[in-house]
Amino acid sequence: MKATAIAPANIAFIKYWGKADPVTRVPQNNSISMNLSELHTTTTVEFDASFTEDSITFLDEGVVKKAEILKITNALDRIRVYSGVTLHAKVVTRNNFPKATGIASSASGFAALIVASLAALGKDTSNKNELSRLARLFSGTACRSIPDGFVEWEQGHNHESSYAVQIFPPDWWDIRDVVAIVTEEMKAVGSTEGHAIADTSLLYKARLSSVDAKIHAIKDAMQRKDFSVFGRILEEDSFNMHAVALTSSTPLVYWEPQTITIIKAVFALRAAGKAQGYVTIDAGPTVHVICESKDEENIVRVLQKISGVLRVVENKPARGARLWAEHLF
Ligand code: DP6
Repeated sequence: MKATAIAPANIAFIKYWGKADPVTRVPQNNSISMNLSELHTTTTVEFDASFTEDSITFLDEGVVKKAEILKITNALDRIRVYSGVTLHAKVVTRNNFPKATGIASSASGFAALIVASLAALGKDTSNKNELSRLARLFSGTACRSIPDGFVEWEQGHNHESSYAVQIFPPDWWDIRDVVAIVTEEMKAVGSTEGHAIADTSLLYKARLSSVDAKIHAIKDAMQRKDFSVFGRILEEDSFNMHAVALTSSTPLVYWEPQTITIIKAVFALRAAGKAQGYVTIDAGPTVHVICESKDEENIVRVLQKISGVLRVVENKPARGARLWAEHLF
């Protein structure tokens, strides 16, 4: 049987940085994110007795690294063990955005893969907690692309207890994530490596000891729809994560010169009272500017004028991973 799923990328407001267990990807702290309406992966999977090996095709992509294919075949192996089958699979997948630029392509990719694979094997895909647990095994952030809207990944203490849940539905708050893409190249240091050395930073203990309070405060601001408090917390957490990365051994600099230019432009708009946007950056140079809908146009106009900004993508809060009727093959 063949099945297709679509899954969104997500942007973290409180970041996942560091793992308690690198094998199961149980993290060191809870994280909070929003699923993105315009950045997603669509994946079709078919398992069949006539296939003699797994085949994986990325549509509309340039060179695909061997390591990426290996991550997918490893995921398929785990799905086979979980489902009690030995069949090989054909996988065709398409991102509508460049991979590995700080947009969590592995999040949307593995969330779509798990939903499409289980459906293709005739398994139940209605238990979102279970889908989230399984997605986490392939990439931590993928577990947050399963539930709809605004999501909290509860750290837990083992595989069973670590998964993401919805905290607010997509229509709870009409905020935007204006994404400024500055490169289409793969990043030199992946996030998995960053997680692994986070605790070499002297700042990491301080980060962990402050996360619970930040989670509490940001959820409260989201509940009250207090945009300034919300924005200040998410921006502070992003700089905090990058401070850890920059002071890890060896130091990780995920930013490009344009990243700084964009940060300063957003700060200038805020200082001038022209638009209230707050920046957040994952493990790459791409800047996400979180704003209310009333400020979106101003922010987009300014970002589009910055030299080196290749593309600006305007996102609303979105649904999580789900089955999709149009197959890719
Ligand atoms: C910087 O999910 O890419 O985007 O679990 O090793 O696959 P692995 O890491 P990944 O982590 C990226 C974390 C982040 C921050 C965040 O989204 O919370």
